[in-house]
Amino acid sequence: MRYEEISGNTYFNGDCITGAKRYVPSDSVDLIITDPPYGINGDKLHKHYNRNEEFVVEGYVEVPASGYGEFSLNWIKEAERILKPGGSIYIVSGYTNLYHILHALRQTKLEEINHIIWKYNFGVYTSRKYVSSHYHILFYEKPGGERTFNLESRFGVKEKDSTDGSLNYQDREDVWIINREYKPGQVKNKNELPTELLIKMMQYSSNEGDLVCDLFLGGFSTAKVAIGLNRRATGFEISPSMFDTKIEEMKAIEPGFLLPALRCPEIEELANQGKSWTDEDMATLILRFNQLTQSGKTKKESIELLEEELGRGRWSIEKMLKKLGVQFNGGKRGRPKKQPITDAVRDQTVLPFE
Ligand SMILES: C[S@@+](CC[C@H](N)C(=O)[O-])C[C@H]1O[C@@H](n2cnc3c(N)ncnc32)[C@H](O)[C@@H]1O
Repeated sequence: MRYEEISGNTYFNGDCITGAKRYVPSDSVDLIITDPPYGINGDKLHKHYNRNEEFVVEGYVEVPASGYGEFSLNWIKEAERILKPGGSIYIVSGYTNLYHILHALRQTKLEEINHIIWKYNFGVYTSRKYVSSHYHILFYEKPGGERTFNLESRFGVKEKDSTDGSLNYQDREDVWIINREYKPGQVKNKNELPTELLIKMMQYSSNEGDLVCDLFLGGFSTAKVAIGLNRRATGFEISPSMFDTKIEEMKAIEPGFLLPALRCPEIEELANQGKSWTDEDMATLILRFNQLTQSGKTKKESIELLEEELGRGRWSIEKMLKKLGVQFNGGKRGRPKKQPITDAVRDQTVLPFE
């Protein structure tokens, strides 16, 4: 199989199923992001998407709809093999053949993390039904290792918008509204994934130096973003013309070129973050939580105050309250049902916050 190496990153021109078997070792890839052919007759994609094909690179190779199930199972099995334990995979799929991909995934040990809906602009125009304007992104992991999920890579957990909503929470909702890129006059692959979408997946699910693989490189958008974020990249593209056009563009990509434009999240260093809880810490937590809620504060308000007082994160506090048996009536404004009195509380003689 023909391949090109650029600054230590290897890209293969050929079928990803046979190619991965031969060239990619088991448990070697940190993250796979891939967008397989859709099995909906690629040559007519321009009609489907109502657009000018003049600048679309020739050579997009489609998979016949009749063989899509078997094809999906074969490449997904390879993806499972090459991923490291704990590695993540994002598969972008339309809805027509989604069931084949889901069926194939269920025949592996890969585990579902999220089923994301990507809503884009320029949906397929229709007049007698709703406009189709979303893709599915299946986010799975290979079990057996610690999955990378960089919680604060884009927004600190305390960052708020103008209406006091959490930016971190909003960014991590499983419906993503990201526009396709409009590239008039530029040579492109059919269905190129937007840079913003790829950046998001890579920021959350990989670190600098990690190996990112795309089994269906198309316009090499995954590889370009990976290199732009200082990751390593590899992958396959079966079409010789697409490969030749895009490999030239890859040679001009500067490692890390996307890093300076990334948003800098505001991350608070908490004094006791990651430290284990002593009996005294637990006693203090319950006492203060009881005091605050009995003084009329909601659960949410109490936890926010305790984050500052105790120098610990919200998740850690909530988890510990649950472990200590604090029950809530539910919802952000829920009041504790019954306050437990643990040995640690009973033994507590000094109240540090009184
Ligand atoms: C949906 S496109 C990928 C688009 C890409 N994500 C991008 O942003 O440009 C799918 C690509 O897979 C290629 N392809 C089809 N069958 C393949 C196979 N067996 N192995 C590798 N590539 C294949 C097609 O030629 C096409 O370029």
